[in-house]
Amino acid sequence: MSVTDTLGRPMRDLRVSVTDRCNFRCVYCMPKEVFGQDYAFLARDRLLSFEEIARLARVFVALGAEKIRLTGGEPLVRRDVEQLVAMLSRIEGLSDLTLTTNGALLAQKAQALKDAGLRRITVSLDSLDDAIFKAMNDADFPVAGVLAGIEAAERAGLTPIKLNMVVKRGMNEGSILEMARFFRGTGHILRFVEFMDVGHTNGWRMDDVVPAVEIVRAISSVFPLEPAQPNYRGEVARRYRYRDGAGEIGVIASVTQPFCGDCTRARLSADGRLFGCLFATQGRDLRDLMRAGATDEEIAAAIRRVWSVRDDRYSEVRSSETVGLPKVEMSYIGG
Ligand code: GTP
Ligand code: 5AD
Ligand code: SF4
Ligand code: SF4
Repeated sequence: MSVTDTLGRPMRDLRVSVTDRCNFRCVYCMPKEVFGQDYAFLARDRLLSFEEIARLARVFVALGAEKIRLTGGEPLVRRDVEQLVAMLSRIEGLSDLTLTTNGALLAQKAQALKDAGLRRITVSLDSLDDAIFKAMNDADFPVAGVLAGIEAAERAGLTPIKLNMVVKRGMNEGSILEMARFFRGTGHILRFVEFMDVGHTNGWRMDDVVPAVEIVRAISSVFPLEPAQPNYRGEVARRYRYRDGAGEIGVIASVTQPFCGDCTRARLSADGRLFGCLFATQGRDLRDLMRAGATDEEIAAAIRRVWSVRDDRYSEVRSSETVGLPKVEMSYIGG
């Protein structure tokens, strides 16, 4: 039984944050000044167990979700996350099971993830220049470590591999062309992501956003591009293909060209709250409901109630008032 929201949008995807922790401190996501030594991450008993995540996932799939993406924080820092992948991969009715990672632990985890049933993977990489990359991840992590992860994922067959590059003005816009050149012809799909005002700690300013049109123009002037059709309705990235056949890129223009109209994504935080939008301020707790002994039907009814009144379209209504709202952090809700 599927469920639609007040804008007629069905629930098709479930994004599950498996931890709010991360081994990076990207300046646009978990700035060190905020996420320092004293930061109170979720205590272990507040996290959903793998069994709890799998149970909720089955209920979401019964309500129409077809795709599950694991996120974080950094999903690979959650111990034995491949066991969760194995549990999810056994759910019938799921057409896609994937994960977004910073790649730091991917070289050691790729094969286990594949064996557990993960279909494909998305890796974040903001530059090929060590100095720039380290300035962005703020954890002194080198580019070579991520590239090793990407290679391991390719060997394991976690393909097609997508790469997310968040572009922040004044930091890594100079890396755009080099990234395009490097990944052209590899079969991997590089996506440029506009810096977003998620959470309320990353000091977002419109001036720091490099608009997607500017990115496409810069690449196309060297490697000519043409627009390509979306792979599916509601795809977040707009696709462009190289005219010489060297593959495709994508741009995720949530600031300059929002895509809320087709947004079919439900989000589950690591402590079991359901959110209807990446920019939400409040979520519906499903963990305590479950721990109090609710049946699958009661959980389904709670999800249905949230989704049926959902009217979120944050990126389309973003304004000086909404930017300052006490939104939950991206590391908590998941990308
Ligand atoms: P595919 O499944 O391969 O199409 O990928 P995806 O674009 O759904 O996933 P990914 O996790 O790689 O997200 C890419 C970027 O888009 C990240 O920066 C996300 O935070 C952002 N993003 C994903 N979904 C949404 C959304 O619903 N709203 C907004 N504003 N941004 C989103
Ligand atoms: N703006 C845009 N993308 C972001 N990500 C994290 N924070 C931001 C932000 N403020 C990206 C990560 C990862 C994905 C899940 O979200 O780099 O690729
Ligand atoms: Fe960690 Fe990803 Fe956030 Fe960077 S963007 S701090 S890798 S969760
Ligand atoms: Fe969906 Fe909210 Fe993103 Fe719009 S801003 S696409 S409603 S998650």
